[in-house]
Amino acid sequence: MNSENRSGLKERRLEVATRSRQRLVAHIAAGGTTDMADAAMENDSSAYCDPQRDQREKSRLFRQSPIVACFSSDVASAGDAFVFDLLGTSVLLLRSSDSRLRGYLNRCSHRGTRLIATRYGACRLESGRITCPFHAWSYDIEGKLSHVPGAEGFEQQLLEQRNLTPVQVREHLGLVFVQIQGQIEDGGIAAFFGDFHDEIAQLELSLLQPVHNFALDARSNWKYAMDTYCEGYHFSVLHRDSIGRDFFSNIAVFDDFGRHWRLCFAERALAALVDRDQSEWPDVAFSGIHFLFPNTLLVVGTLPQGEMCVRMFQLLPGQDAGSMTCLIRVYAPASVVADEERLSREFAYNDANSDITQEDYEVAVEGYRNLANAPDSFRLVYGRNEPALQAFHRALASALSEP
Ligand code: FES
Ligand SMILES: [Fe+2]
Repeated sequence: MNSENRSGLKERRLEVATRSRQRLVAHIAAGGTTDMADAAMENDSSAYCDPQRDQREKSRLFRQSPIVACFSSDVASAGDAFVFDLLGTSVLLLRSSDSRLRGYLNRCSHRGTRLIATRYGACRLESGRITCPFHAWSYDIEGKLSHVPGAEGFEQQLLEQRNLTPVQVREHLGLVFVQIQGQIEDGGIAAFFGDFHDEIAQLELSLLQPVHNFALDARSNWKYAMDTYCEGYHFSVLHRDSIGRDFFSNIAVFDDFGRHWRLCFAERALAALVDRDQSEWPDVAFSGIHFLFPNTLLVVGTLPQGEMCVRMFQLLPGQDAGSMTCLIRVYAPASVVADEERLSREFAYNDANSDITQEDYEVAVEGYRNLANAPDSFRLVYGRNEPALQAFHRALASALSEP
């Protein structure tokens, strides 16, 4: 990308950040208002607990549609690999020397053994090939079976059909998408982004590099956990001693982009701007959540020295409606990732163990248990002040053609 385009994206990012900040300050000045949906909305508890609904979601949203697996920078160079488990199907992403990213099932074609043990995360293929830990069949980066010890035990013609099974992969805007069933159509990724395309483009995700990653398994439904990220109404109650100290409760700006959306919460520090002329406001840095349907949150923040960093939270359904995994991956600019001192200072904590995550997941586990045992007549309610929560459930219902 040329430098003109790049500065255009930076300008656009600043514009979005400035506009969000103006709206947040206006909400604070008005005594604590927030962006509102038209009306409150009810939802059946079966939307979370019904095993058939769970199966429909898994098929249509997670197997037959593109799902974000990682950033392109997780598999930046030839020989880099990334493993991503999606509903029990382990996908192996490999970067070859022609810079192409290829996807395969992480499954040996001899007797089906897992080739790389990692569930989620990056690794390097130093030898340039993948060797099965069971009988050492090995495959090259193009997925071709390249060596079979004791090959005389197998007919040549049989071995010729034993390459790795390809998986559909696409890269766009610094993100890697996989689809484990069916084809990703031409234009399928552009259609996926829709109106949200430019909002993700301006984040310039391709300039960020991985810092670290965590996985968190929970006995909850992935949507019940997702709901905790969709509103700041609970900050001063559930998170009074964590994020509630720095952010106002129930003050947010919400921008709807079809199935995707952006949500920004009001930092308490913004209160100081209410009585100041805008020309005196300090430089702005964006902070807010970009939600990519159906399960990925890009939480954009700013480091103490002004660089952007992104925490990606991905909520994945587990074995049944009451189990899930949250993947947390942290990304920062190359200059920060290269600076060990800054990394240990600014990224020392474990995101999966942070107070805010612990508080949210305790509610997600206990709340889900309650829902699973509630009578069918029990309906949850999402307030007008929870527009992102409403948008999330409306988009799911519409993608599944539920009422
Ligand atoms: S199962 Fe992989 S080499 Fe035998
Ligand atoms: Fe929360």
